[in-house]
Amino acid sequence: MTEVVRPVNRSYRLRGDRATGAQSAAYEKLWPVYGLPPQGLIDPIAIFPNSTSRIMEIGSGMGEATAQIAAHFPDTGFLVVEVHKPGLGSLMNLCDKAGTTNVKVIEEDVHLVMRDSIPDQTLDAIHLYFPDPWPKNGHHKRRIVQSEFLELIHPKIKDGGYIHIATDWFPYAQWIQRIFGASELFSGGVIERPEWRPISKFEGQGLRKGHIVTDMKYFKK
Ligand SMILES: C[S@@+](CC[C@H](N)C(=O)[O-])C[C@H]1O[C@@H](n2cnc3c(N)ncnc32)[C@H](O)[C@@H]1O
Repeated sequence: MTEVVRPVNRSYRLRGDRATGAQSAAYEKLWPVYGLPPQGLIDPIAIFPNSTSRIMEIGSGMGEATAQIAAHFPDTGFLVVEVHKPGLGSLMNLCDKAGTTNVKVIEEDVHLVMRDSIPDQTLDAIHLYFPDPWPKNGHHKRRIVQSEFLELIHPKIKDGGYIHIATDWFPYAQWIQRIFGASELFSGGVIERPEWRPISKFEGQGLRKGHIVTDMKYFKK
């Protein structure tokens, strides 16, 4: 069996998989409908053959924004990668209630999924909404947006495709602009918040604390 080499600096917190009995039961019931095994080839075009575009969302949290966005864009296939099992359970529940057919979920670190499973030139876009900000200086290496991350995602995005990022942590927004600004791989910058992007639970918490939200869009060069 080949060894799975995990990134040294995890970009997520280990929160445990505490879920209620009902959540666990819903997860078991809905995984066959929405879940994809994290290993092997994961070809977004084969998974969503009839969609007009395919978007990967990284880190859906509890999934309330993801479910609304998927409902807003029924012709787009959404491949969701999240490490937090209860969050995926919540997303699958929302999708089930809405009868959603354009969402598939993968429970794994996106670095591994990108590196090992996603073929080149198969994603129209990536959504990265409110990634963990890792505010302490000593933790900045755990931020998901790094120059290595740009190198990892660049080949997977189709020509003309993009990554859309939103954060409520202003120093992280500046960090993201510096990393992308120094890269030859993408071009873009700050954009207006799109009206279709709903306020997620995490964003709502930031807004209540008076945080400024920045949306950024970077196109593959
Ligand atoms: C701060 S939350 C934001 C969630 C959601 N986008 C929102 O706006 O409410 C960040 C999420 O990203 C997930 N995450 C962080 N690093 C990840 C990685 N490397 N692969 C997959 N998911 C990751 C975390 O588990 C967490 O649920």
